[in-house]
Amino acid sequence: MAPSSLRPPRHHPSPLVVLAIAVLLVLRTADGLPEAGGGGGGGGLYREILRDETVQRLKELGKISDGDGYLERTFLSPASIRATGVIVSWMKDAGLTTWVDQMGNIHGRYEPANSTRDALLIGSHMDTVVDAGMYDGALGIISAISALKVLKVTGKLQRLTRPVEVIAFSDEEGIRFQTTFLGSAAVAGTLPESILQVSDKSGTTLQDVLKMNSFEATSTAISQARYNPESVGSYVEVHMEQGPVLEALHYPLGVVKGIAGQTRLKVIVDGSQGHAGTVPMKLRRDPMVAAAELVVTLERLCKEPNSLLTYDEECSCFTEESLAGLVCTVGELNTWPSASNVIPGQVNFTVDIRAMDDQVRETIVTSFSRLVLQKCDDRLVDCKVEHKHSAAATHCDPELTSQLKRAARSTVSAMPGRTVAAGETPVLMSGAGHDAMAMARLTKIGMLFVRCRGGISHSPEESVMDNDVWAAGLALFNFIDQNAVSEELDAGQNVVAVALAVAES
Ligand code: GLV
Ligand code: MN
Ligand code: MN
Repeated sequence: MAPSSLRPPRHHPSPLVVLAIAVLLVLRTADGLPEAGGGGGGGGLYREILRDETVQRLKELGKISDGDGYLERTFLSPASIRATGVIVSWMKDAGLTTWVDQMGNIHGRYEPANSTRDALLIGSHMDTVVDAGMYDGALGIISAISALKVLKVTGKLQRLTRPVEVIAFSDEEGIRFQTTFLGSAAVAGTLPESILQVSDKSGTTLQDVLKMNSFEATSTAISQARYNPESVGSYVEVHMEQGPVLEALHYPLGVVKGIAGQTRLKVIVDGSQGHAGTVPMKLRRDPMVAAAELVVTLERLCKEPNSLLTYDEECSCFTEESLAGLVCTVGELNTWPSASNVIPGQVNFTVDIRAMDDQVRETIVTSFSRLVLQKCDDRLVDCKVEHKHSAAATHCDPELTSQLKRAARSTVSAMPGRTVAAGETPVLMSGAGHDAMAMARLTKIGMLFVRCRGGISHSPEESVMDNDVWAAGLALFNFIDQNAVSEELDAGQNVVAVALAVAES
């Protein structure tokens, strides 16, 4: 121990200074962070909340499932109701006022006193596909809650200059009713009245499902979920990339320039049901082989569009560039009565067509619909093409995108153990749909993408590194800090700052 003569002289601070320092220490260590520079770089980067707690909550939410041994949580299912309670409790823990709207969306909001400014909305979806991974949607909700929790523990929540609200949307995947964005479209005010009558596979209508869960289930009630565009300034969403680009670039975060448009169809093929052993091949009207041919036709149409489109006005005008992001998928096929010794009576299947260029997508939809009728005629089966959903390609707001880019870049540079040069944040297009598409009908949108392993999504193999979860939460916190927190210290914090200055002098 150094002899006392070598120790610096001691000041005896006043009780006010002691109190102020104590308050400040509580504010700085409320998230239990190690001091700056220590413990693997957690200090100042809120590792305990933005990484450890966020990851633990992702795992917790990922276990709330209707499936036995796999993750499935669709619109207003029993698991989704259980998840609502958990998400509400996390929002409260972050200091937010919560409510559930008439479409089952969960809201957590901080409303600064006397603020007249428009709100910053941040969200993503709580529903999942069948046999899902735990990051799609959930990452955006939980990172947003965590970023607001950091604002709370650092005393910045009280210094917000505009309302900030997290929304966990009840439906984005469209699995239950085959129509996407039930949650975000309700908030954007774009749901048609007829939506209440759509039914799920069991024949239960959306209206019935809402009623069973004690919602009012009328179009007037649903319209209460709609936000006045003047009360909203922007919408921001964090989402896993669901593609391989960031991983290939060795960069944890990217920003989104635009989102591909999408169309969903259902094709119903009716033939003659019969005995598999007795009906001669020549006399069959088999909807299964017709459906198989249509699936392959769709694949060809999207792989080599210019060779199959034979209409002058549509063909040869598609450049390689305009075909960017054109993808077509049959993800679900049902057959009736589905038995090995029965020629099916009916086969129906879903079609999902996406492209960055709306004209390309619309042409593919029209051409496929014509080819369906033609091929079905040839095979003497009856076919019907139903339009289930359509959304135009969406562009993100350039200013919000630049702000997110800056927040991502400064975050990546500050992260411990980063392996990338502090270069420009990558700018990506999204082939996947997002609530941001629906919210673009209400306000300006911006999106932050997070690197994932192998580009895999809509699969239990989805994986995002814990440190990338951390980077996403920190970038979102930095974005909010830069765009919605006052630089001015409030009166209480001024006392602390002055007292510290006194103590240090
Ligand atoms: C949603 O994940 C979609 O793009 O289908
Ligand atoms: Mn998804
Ligand atoms: Mn998603």
